[in-house]
Amino acid sequence: MELSFAPMEGITYSIYRRLHARLFPGAARYYAPFIAPDSSGRFKAGSLRDVLPENNEGLPLVPQLLCNAPAPFLAVAEELGALGYEEVNLNAGCPSGTVVAKHKGAGMLGDPAQLDACLAEIFSRCPLRVSVKTRLGLHSAGEFPALLAVYRKYPLSRLIVHVRDRGGMYRSIPDREAFAPALDCPFPVEYNGDIFTPADLASLQARYPALQAVMLGRGAVTNPALFRQLCGGEALSAPELRDFHDRLIEAYLADGLAPPYTVSRMKELWFYQRCLFPGGERELKAILKARSLPDYRAAVAALFREVPLDPAAGFRNPG
Ligand SMILES: Cc1cc2nc3c(=O)[nH]c(=O)nc-3n(C[C@H](O)[C@H](O)[C@H](O)COP(=O)(O)O)c2cc1C
Repeated sequence: MELSFAPMEGITYSIYRRLHARLFPGAARYYAPFIAPDSSGRFKAGSLRDVLPENNEGLPLVPQLLCNAPAPFLAVAEELGALGYEEVNLNAGCPSGTVVAKHKGAGMLGDPAQLDACLAEIFSRCPLRVSVKTRLGLHSAGEFPALLAVYRKYPLSRLIVHVRDRGGMYRSIPDREAFAPALDCPFPVEYNGDIFTPADLASLQARYPALQAVMLGRGAVTNPALFRQLCGGEALSAPELRDFHDRLIEAYLADGLAPPYTVSRMKELWFYQRCLFPGGERELKAILKARSLPDYRAAVAALFREVPLDPAAGFRNPG
């Protein structure tokens, strides 16, 4: 099974990706969090920096665009081509209200004819291979067959399917059955949604024995060794996670991120990694309360000292 690392805005930027690839190799591809160009194809300097080849050495990286108009898509694709990229991914899945209101991300799924027109122009002129990350629909999974009919008209390099409609955000029960017709596509298809443990993958493979590729998001941010574990390797150990965590802090600081911002960045990870420490509520609360880097480091040290890491635990939404 080929496993890729999902784009996770706010988390899986180049510093994180580089360290992850070094300490926990095994991802076939990393997808960069989305670049959102304006109508003239301009986008944030930070997004460019995130995909510059010198910041992603040795990483199999696919940049992603959040964009519903061919002109800016093609303009940025050309820039990415000049940087040496051979593939760009279209985000047709972001469920955020502000994004969907602009008919971007999952908002592109509400009008298959418009999506078709957009893809027709992109595929007639894009110098790079184009893959798409989609949901099952805007309002319901019932829209998926019509969306697939559109995708099948084009030579996608890959279709990644997050098995929820937009309303499901990242919380509803994944609709695995609705994914079935995607496997008849003439291009590679990658499954995405709630694969957090070896048992999750085993049940998915039992349902879809022909499935070749799976994208991991929250499960991999929770447990960075998930790629290894899903390929039959050893489970994550506490010293390994601690090492990854400590090196990540050093990498952010070395990159010039101020200590308070480094603390904020690290705290975001604990929304996921908390799942590995059942029973550690008190220690985790202290981590989230810490403001200064020394306080933060002390709180993390206490967690690792007091609470055993459960290597069998996977991501779970709170509440
Ligand atoms: C905090 C966060 C940020 C995300 N950022 C992106 C993004 O930039 N582009 C994208 O296509 N999907 C993004 N996603 C969706 C993930 O790539 C993935 O599809 C989702 O987490 C479901 O996979 P999982 O169940 O393995 O986590 C994001 C999800 C989360 C929770």
